[in-house]
Parts: sequence; C-alpha cells; structure tokens
Amino acid sequence: MTAKAACSDFLHFFRSWISNPLRVAAIAPSGDSLARIMTSEIAALDGPIIELGPGTGVFTRALLARGVSEADLTLIEYGPEFINSLQARFPTARVLQMDAAHLSHADIFEGEPVGAVVSGLPLLSMSPRKITSIMAGAFAYMRPGGAVYQFTYGPRCPVSRPILDRLGLKAVRIGGTVRNLPPASVYRISRRKPLELSSERYRQSDTEIDDVAAFSNETGG
Ligand SMILES: C[S@@+](CC[C@H](N)C(=O)[O-])C[C@H]1O[C@@H](n2cnc3c(N)ncnc32)[C@H](O)[C@@H]1O
Repeated sequence: MTAKAACSDFLHFFRSWISNPLRVAAIAPSGDSLARIMTSEIAALDGPIIELGPGTGVFTRALLARGVSEADLTLIEYGPEFINSLQARFPTARVLQMDAAHLSHADIFEGEPVGAVVSGLPLLSMSPRKITSIMAGAFAYMRPGGAVYQFTYGPRCPVSRPILDRLGLKAVRIGGTVRNLPPASVYRISRRKPLELSSERYRQSDTEIDDVAAFSNETGG
C-alpha cells in the first residue's frame, strides 16, 4: 500500500471514528504488525473465511497475503461508510452490510463450513448479550478445529469467562504488538474438546464437594 493510500485510509477511518466513536472504537486502522498476528494461523486451504468489522480492510489484505483466495472471503461490516471502498478493493469477496450480532439468523453459508473468523469488532464497547450472539453466530458456521481470532486493546480476552463457559469455548492469547496504535493483543477462541469439557465438569463438582465440605464443617456434620 502506498503512503498516499495509507494516509487516505487514515483520514477515512478517523472521520468514521468522529461520527461514531463507539462503533469504530479506534482512531486509526490497525497496523501491519497486528494484521500479521491476526492472520498468522490461517492457511490458504482453510476454505471460506469470515471477517467481522473489516473497516478499511487491513486484515483482509493480510489474509490475501497469506494466500487465501479473495472469493473465499465474506466481509461483514456494519458501517455504511466502509462498504463502497471494500467492494471496490476486494471485488470478488462477498461484502455484506449487516450487524455481526445477526450472523446466526442470516444463513450466509449453506455449503462448506468456515475455517476461521477474523474479528476486528470492538467487543469492549459491546454488551455481554451482543458478544454472546456474535460468538454463537460465528461458531454456528465453523468447521471442527476452526477458530475466531480477536484482537483487543485491553489486558484480557474481551470475551469474558462466563460467556466462554456458556458456549463451551476457550481463549488463548497468541501474541501481541506494541507497534500498533494503541498496542494490542490477539486471542484465538476455539471450542473446548470433550475431555476439557468433562474436566471442567469435574472442576465444578470439586467446587460442589468443597461447598458440601464447608457446609458440613459449619454445621458440624
Ligand atoms: C476497531 S474498527 C477495526 C477495523 C479494522 N478491522 C482494523 O483493524 O483496522 C471496528 C470495525 O468494526 C465495525 N463494526 C462495529 N460494530 C459492528 C457490528 N455490530 N457488526 C459489524 N461490524 C461492526 C466498525 O464499523 C469498524 O469497521
């Protein structure tokens, strides 16, 4: 990307942030360093990929650089101001203007399940209910072993532990960069394996046993 195009993207993004700071939630597009981490585990043969909140398309370009076919991309962007430029830049990708929280009702994939979901969504400014809908929707299309890649400016995964537990998911931090404005971390969110789910149940029953023991001590039982 030329310096002139980068400058024009910055102005486009900055104006969007001024008009809708909660939805855009960043003053500048993500940097190349963050885009590389976000897409580092995605391979050309992963099949269809969904990108949520592509904005000016920084992660989209990084996906193409990893060999993903443009025709395998579905870009879901709520902001009308980004739609025309996404369509012009990525003419063979599918660009849908919609709220990512409506993914599961949208029936956007009938055939092959998706290999990964790359999310630039500002989850920190969303309610737990909305985050739950987005994650449930993303995993409704996901093939076994697929993952959501989500970045955050915060100190922990922006999908909280109760939401992960409720949906049977786990989050692992796969990297971070200070060469971004602001510095950011990237999480891989994936389904827990049956064994992890059952050990989770054991942990719960341990807690229940502890509760029973504490109750017995209190009551002298
Ligand atoms: C922090 S910006 C990230 C843009 C781009 N991925 C990047 O990293 O430069 C958040 C993007 O998510 C979009 N967005 C916010 N809420 C959304 C929603 N509910 N559904 C789809 N897109 C949304 C915004 O319009 C914006 O493009």
